[in-house]
Amino acid sequence: MWIVVHARYDGRPTWGRNAALHGGGPVEQRGRTIRGDVLFGTGDVLATWLSLLIEHEERPIESIADLQRRVRDHWARGMTMLSELLESSDGSAINFWRRLAETALPSGRRRDDHEVGPPGPADEPGPRPIALPIGPRGVDARTGEPVRFSPVAPGASPHVAIMGGVGSGKTRTALTMLGKLREQTAAPVLAFDFEGDMVGGEAGLDVTFGAELVAPPHTPVPLDVLAMGGTGETALKLAAQRLRDSLATLKGAGFGAQQRDLLAEAAERALAAHRPCRLQDVRDALLEVYRERDRAPDGAVATLNDLCRFDLFTPDLPPEEFFARSRVVRIGQELPDLVRTVVVTLTTDALDRWLNGLSDSPVDGEGDRALRIVAVIDEAHRVLGCKLTGLSNLVRLSRSKGGMIWLISQSPDDFDGEDQDFLAEMGLVLAFATNAAPGATRRIFGTQARLEQLPKGRAWAKLRGEPAREVVVW
Ligand SMILES: Nc1ncnc2c1ncn2[C@@H]1O[C@H](COP(=O)(O)OP(=O)(O)O)[C@@H](O)[C@H]1O
Ligand SMILES: [Mg+2]
Repeated sequence: MWIVVHARYDGRPTWGRNAALHGGGPVEQRGRTIRGDVLFGTGDVLATWLSLLIEHEERPIESIADLQRRVRDHWARGMTMLSELLESSDGSAINFWRRLAETALPSGRRRDDHEVGPPGPADEPGPRPIALPIGPRGVDARTGEPVRFSPVAPGASPHVAIMGGVGSGKTRTALTMLGKLREQTAAPVLAFDFEGDMVGGEAGLDVTFGAELVAPPHTPVPLDVLAMGGTGETALKLAAQRLRDSLATLKGAGFGAQQRDLLAEAAERALAAHRPCRLQDVRDALLEVYRERDRAPDGAVATLNDLCRFDLFTPDLPPEEFFARSRVVRIGQELPDLVRTVVVTLTTDALDRWLNGLSDSPVDGEGDRALRIVAVIDEAHRVLGCKLTGLSNLVRLSRSKGGMIWLISQSPDDFDGEDQDFLAEMGLVLAFATNAAPGATRRIFGTQARLEQLPKGRAWAKLRGEPAREVVVW
């Protein structure tokens, strides 16, 4: 026996919106017919599928025609969801598959048919235009005209890179601009502060954003940092691999191929067995894996031990609660380099999983996109060049999710180690005086910019889509 399912599919090979099957409504155009035995097989296999359908449908199936209609509608819904997911993945196949794996897994909660991915936070900030002056003065050095950065306008990139030598004014400029940003958005800030100068002063983030200061290990970051982006086997494997990559590529960690495999296995075990899962659980699982294989503890175990020596995180808050409130994470000088980077790495991984797993953030009538979170990494050269997958995903993909990333670093050369050209993704690149190699500088600002000769308070600014110009910042 076989049944015929009339699925409306227009035969185009891609999954664009127009190619999607449309559930409900009258059939204006009949697409290809998919024979029932192609979908359901024959004999026992067919009987099993039919039993499953009958068992799981809420209403009884009344006839073959009724069955065909329901299968067709089911396909239509599925194709619509896939096409929406593909569209919201900015055409990136990797992002599409990752999100499919993460969002299509059972979440224990029934989803609205048309919704793809979990919804945004309940009281999230609405969309509105934003215009930021470039520092306290913010005028074109040649014409005296005000220079403004519009991070959420249609087609704009919200991300900011600020560069310059020590004492050139990067942090203070960022703090002034963030203060102006706060007047125009309710989005919280998450800042990583290596120097201890982002809270305390009059433009401190504690004043402008009401940010809470956390300073591990004295006050650990209250985040369930290893929370997975979904449930099920695939989400578990993805989370374990990401954790392995994050730990294995830490500056100075130097894991070999076998150690990476063992670490992935340990991460998977720990994530499966503990909710919330802590770094200590991963370390213990790694020790267990080593014991099972009669392998003597080596550099990988030592790295995990080093990380566990400090209380860096406590899993008090799930990501959606942690990222809803402004915080400055102070990363003290007393911590070893490895530990300092891991705080940034794991937190940005968690931010990437949470933010890039949300549906797109809303836009207003003019196309201005609502910001959901502003992440700031001061002294980013301490972590750039470590191949931070989370950070790189945030820079490449979080724009449509309402993410805004600020990277403050010493020179354009700091970005060279990254796989992608980070600087090309920025809406604003601002460079104070620095002795950068001319290559990178020329690529961004053109041949006329001389960063080593800039007077105090002046910077070269490159706004996306506009020519570079010298700006009086302060
Ligand atoms: N807006 C400003 N107005 C006046 N002086 C400033 C301003 N911004 C920076 N400076 C001067 O530059 C110094 C270093 O600034 P800071 O932002 O800490 O530099 P960086 O982060 O590049 O090391 C400040 O202590 C101050 O003397
Ligand atoms: Mg600084």
